Amino acid sequence: MIKIRVPATTANLGPGFDCLGLALKLYLNLEIEEIAQGLVIEYQGEGADKFSSKKDTLIRKSVEVVLKKTGQDKSKKGLKIKVFNQIPITRGLGSSATAIIGGIVGAAKLYNINLTNQEMLELALPLEGHMDNIVPALIGGLTLAYKTGQEEIKWARIKTPRDLRVVVAIPDFTLSTEKMRKALPQKVALPEAVFNLSRSALLVNALQNSDWDVLAEAMEDRLHQPYRAPFIPGIEDIFLKIKKTGLAGVALSGSGPSVVSLTKKGQEEAIGKIMKDTFLYAGVTCRVLVLEVDLEGTVVTVVSDE
Ligand code: HSE
Repeated sequence: MIKIRVPATTANLGPGFDCLGLALKLYLNLEIEEIAQGLVIEYQGEGADKFSSKKDTLIRKSVEVVLKKTGQDKSKKGLKIKVFNQIPITRGLGSSATAIIGGIVGAAKLYNINLTNQEMLELALPLEGHMDNIVPALIGGLTLAYKTGQEEIKWARIKTPRDLRVVVAIPDFTLSTEKMRKALPQKVALPEAVFNLSRSALLVNALQNSDWDVLAEAMEDRLHQPYRAPFIPGIEDIFLKIKKTGLAGVALSGSGPSVVSLTKKGQEEAIGKIMKDTFLYAGVTCRVLVLEVDLEGTVVTVVSDE
C-alpha cells in the first residue's frame, strides 16, 4: 500500500500572478492499494459531503494519465483509494492540484514507474492548468514556476523565514477558478505590469531577508485582485485594515475566495481577528487558520502489507 501526503497551496501571493506559490501544512492524505478489480474510493474530511465525486474523478484521471503515458495496462487490476482531506474545496487553497499531484505521484510509486518531478508536473499541468499550484504542491516551500521558450515547466525554490506564519481566512462560500479567470482582462497596461514586477521582486527579497516591514507593500497587486474583489464582500476592507497595521502582507489566496496574510510569528492572532471581524461585518462567515510553510512537498511512503 502507498501512502501519500500532498500539501495545500496558496498561489499568486498578490503580485506573483500565475507564478508564485507557497505550500502549507494542511494536507490531502491518500492511501492507495491494488485490489482484484474495480475502483473503490472512501472519502473522509473536507468536501466529503458534496464534492467527493469530483475529487475522485481527478485522482482517478491522474492515475490513468500516468498509466497512459507509460503504456502500462493495469486494467485487469483494480484500485482502492482512501482519501483523508484537510483542505477546504474550491476556496483558493489548491485542492484540485493536490488531488492531481496525489494521483500522479501515487500511480508512479504503485506501479514502479520512474518519473522525474518535471515529468510529473508536465502530466499534471493539462489537468490543473496552474503551475503556481502544482509546483509547490509537489516540491514544497515557496516556489516560482515558469515556462521556458520551449514550453517546459521550470521552477526555483525561494527561501522563507522560519518564523513566517500564514494566516488564512476561508469564507463559507465557494468560487470557481474558471469563473474568476473569466473576470480578468486579456490585456494589461504597462504601468500595471511594472507595478506587479516591482512588487514580486520586492516580495521575494523581503522573504529571503526577513524584511517584515515591507510585506504590506510587497504583496500589492494590480493584475488580478481588483477584478476579483467584487466577488468577495469585505475583501477590500480586509486589505486596507491589515496594511494599515504594518504587521503583515495580505492577498487573495489563488483565485479566492480565501484571503491569505503573511506575517511574523506573534502577529497571527491580531491579523486573524481583523480578517474574521471584517468578513463578518460584510456578512461573510469564515474560518481562520494559522499555518506554517510546508517544506517537504509531496511525501510518499510504501507501507508493507504484512
Ligand atoms: N494563478 C491562478 C489564478 C491560481 O489566480 O487564477 C488558481 O488557483
